[in-house]
Amino acid sequence: MENRYRNDFPKLHQEGYVYLDSAATSLKPQSVIDAVTHYNQHLSANVHRGVYFESYEATRLYEESRQIIAEFIGSQIEEIVYTRGATGALNFVATAYGLPTLQEGDEIIVSELEHHSQLLPWQAVCAKTKAKLIYLPLNAQGRITVDGFKQVLSSKTKIVALTYVSNVFGFLTPVEEIIKLAHQVNAVVVLDAAQAIQHVTIDVKKLDVDFLAFSGHKMLGPTGIGVLYGKKQLLSRLEPIEYGGDMNDAVGKYTSEWKDIPHRFEAGTMPIAEVIGLGEAVKYLKHVGLDQIEHDTTRLYRYTVQQLKKIDGIQIYNEFSDAGIIAFNLIGVHPHDAASFYAEQQVCLRAGHHCAQLVIQWLGIEACLRASMYFYNTFHDCDQFIKTTKEAVSFFKSVGF
Ligand code: ALA
Repeated sequence: MENRYRNDFPKLHQEGYVYLDSAATSLKPQSVIDAVTHYNQHLSANVHRGVYFESYEATRLYEESRQIIAEFIGSQIEEIVYTRGATGALNFVATAYGLPTLQEGDEIIVSELEHHSQLLPWQAVCAKTKAKLIYLPLNAQGRITVDGFKQVLSSKTKIVALTYVSNVFGFLTPVEEIIKLAHQVNAVVVLDAAQAIQHVTIDVKKLDVDFLAFSGHKMLGPTGIGVLYGKKQLLSRLEPIEYGGDMNDAVGKYTSEWKDIPHRFEAGTMPIAEVIGLGEAVKYLKHVGLDQIEHDTTRLYRYTVQQLKKIDGIQIYNEFSDAGIIAFNLIGVHPHDAASFYAEQQVCLRAGHHCAQLVIQWLGIEACLRASMYFYNTFHDCDQFIKTTKEAVSFFKSVGF
């Protein structure tokens, strides 16, 4: 079946290329590439600083992206802070909110599904404040559940720091109920939406989430740009963690004043081309529609899992992913060896612990393969992947694995 979006992605013009690593980074459509190039080629001026046309235009596009992103997630414009990625956004929340707020004995609820970017900043904050990390129990499949969350929620809970969608399993967290319950004990909820924003329609006001982080490069945008959404009343209370140009108002010899949110958190020259590219990426996602994206991705995922299950010598760890991710291994074969075999056939997968070592420990394995698909993939891609898997199983058997 023809994929009507495929032509929009120049990387997919490469004959025989099967890209199944979209959870690591998505491919970029031509419109995003063009927006970045337009800035670099025709503007290349700083924002908020010049009075000439190019600087005005760059500023207009930079702030227009903020508006596009705000509309996409249902926030106010000033609640969108540009960061270098989801990692930067989560580190910001831990440092700017967690560090000055937490005290000894306070608890932060996390899970073993967390990507390191939603785990290590909180570990660092705990080491400094003597707050404690509390792990909610995952269910037998490895999902975060409301029941598991209730078991660890208490009056000591001050922060709930969870993934919205696991980057290894693709499981969707029941965030609506978790947020409601967390707010009953006045805990603040920080969601890592790096693997959710490209799959799930998110309305931060309906969710009532306090902080939400995501990266541009997993949602068709450029690398080096991410977003922190924070509720206005929370962001307004926070001190910057970086100081420099453009984030200040009056500067004195010994003290200075900061701009209003969000600009007080954007010190120095920001990744302007990338911000503009991210705005274009959101336009493209809206043009395709997240419902369509989910429909198409789910069809590909279900088909592929059914085919994969028919192959002897495969172990799948997440049969019911919600986000087009298959975590698996060829039994007895190290995933790095297997991934190299796939690479020789131009089938691109990720192998390793996926920056989520606790999930891998939870599974009781050392590493795994991960195939992650998106709406620009085709059944032909899936068939190539299945065919290569069969060949890999035969090959590794033949050489005595
Ligand atoms: N966090 C990205 C992944 O899961 C890089 O692969």
